[in-house]
Amino acid sequence: MGSHPNSGPTAPHEPLESMSLEPLMTRDYERDPALVYERLRRIHGPVAPVDLLGVPVWLVLGYEESLEVLRDDPAWPKGLENWRAREEGRLPEDWPLAPSLDVNHVLIQGGEGYRGLRTAWDAALRPFQDPRRAQARQLRARIARDADELITLLSQGGGTGWADLSAQFSRPLPLMVASHLLGFPGSQHDDALMDMWRVLDAGPDAGPALDRLLAALAELGALKMKEPGDDFPSYLLAAHPGLGVEELSRELMMLLGMTSDHVGILISNTVVEVISGDASTRASLSAGMIRETMNRVVMQKPPLINFVPRFPVADTRLGHYTIAAGDPVWVSVGAAHADPAFSDNVCPASTISTRAHLAWGAGPRQCPARELATTTAAIGVSRLFERLSGLELSLPLDQLPWRSSPFMRGLRSLPVRYTLADPPTTPPTAAPPLPAAPPSLGPAPDPDGTERPRSSLWRYLAGLVRGR
Ligand code: HEM
Repeated sequence: MGSHPNSGPTAPHEPLESMSLEPLMTRDYERDPALVYERLRRIHGPVAPVDLLGVPVWLVLGYEESLEVLRDDPAWPKGLENWRAREEGRLPEDWPLAPSLDVNHVLIQGGEGYRGLRTAWDAALRPFQDPRRAQARQLRARIARDADELITLLSQGGGTGWADLSAQFSRPLPLMVASHLLGFPGSQHDDALMDMWRVLDAGPDAGPALDRLLAALAELGALKMKEPGDDFPSYLLAAHPGLGVEELSRELMMLLGMTSDHVGILISNTVVEVISGDASTRASLSAGMIRETMNRVVMQKPPLINFVPRFPVADTRLGHYTIAAGDPVWVSVGAAHADPAFSDNVCPASTISTRAHLAWGAGPRQCPARELATTTAAIGVSRLFERLSGLELSLPLDQLPWRSSPFMRGLRSLPVRYTLADPPTTPPTAAPPLPAAPPSLGPAPDPDGTERPRSSLWRYLAGLVRGR
């Protein structure tokens, strides 16, 4: 182990790559990363050197230190070209995180190319996030309709029953939202959604699914270049006409992944918070306090627990170590939120929770899609608690299965027992009329009255239905 805080804040220490490091991704981490963070904090202070699946990195555990890194982008830029060990060819060829970083989309990039991309992202998301825009209003109505469709499907087994709300609701809902944003023509979206599902599951067919998905997104991008529509890829291209098909498909992949995985986690975590909270948590939903509930949820359980790396431009003191220029630095928001410097100042009894948390990032690179993500989750959770009068966990809270990756932490499944509200309510009447479009999952009657074939996502979800 390298020098630690007790060596004194100014003591010199050996370079990151010569330290003997403890692995971060252990069974303990999978079970409860908080315990690992606390142990590292005790040993090293606010910044710890760790082994991340065979690669030495710095993990920032302190709240103040995280803010310092996130806010000062010129001093701590992203961009894999800034990674000294990578430039010197010292990363293992089969490093498991290489594929997700090498994609090099807007979240990973630094430098000049990044700035144009970020501006284009902001412009392309605006129509869907600005509540005054027709696209945003239509999307909200669409999300409510998709949520209702999923609830109807999962409760087909009867007025009461069991469901895995993660597989049957939290995950498919944001996938369907992403598919609307992407503006897939015809039934192409259906295969892409199933492939995204396989990629997220990281099972044996994830590799070929990813290849097919990237090909489908490239095809979609090429189509939008020829025939722009009222969708995210077309707005992104309008704001960044220089984007090539390959670059565009990487950005679309990023949208699909962030939406389905992270928003899905947010929905599941919010549902758990409401079910397991006191009566006032559920009452707060009807009082329109859902966003407040979600703020607490992302503070306590941030979906993105460790951010992708940044690299200091000069040797810089952080915590008790000197981080050499070009060393990889991973901000751990999971650890920063547990830092007493932050957690001791958060008053849990207060009705309004602090917005000073880092779950959406901080500084110039914070999440541009926060409104979209919270709106999707808020509508989904509201529809769920409106349509289901009874909802309880079918496992004790401390036995829910969590999965942790180097980037995110979420529930593997969310087993519940539900009771349908009687009589079922309809989606909010204030929703504007939707343009004629088939339901995302189910059959739409053709003009001759016959039903179209069910989508493969529908068939998959129907296979999960469990009744009484
Ligand atoms: C609950 C859902 C989400 C959470 C918790 C979340 C969180 C975050 C965080 C913490 C960052 C900053 C990471 C860093 O500083 O390294 C970020 C960046 C980003 N997020 Fe989100 N996000 C969510 C959903 C989404 C969605 C749905 C999209 C796309 C539609 C999206 C698009 C992005 C982009 C493009 C960036 C990179 C911004 C930049 O580097 O300038 N996020 N997100």
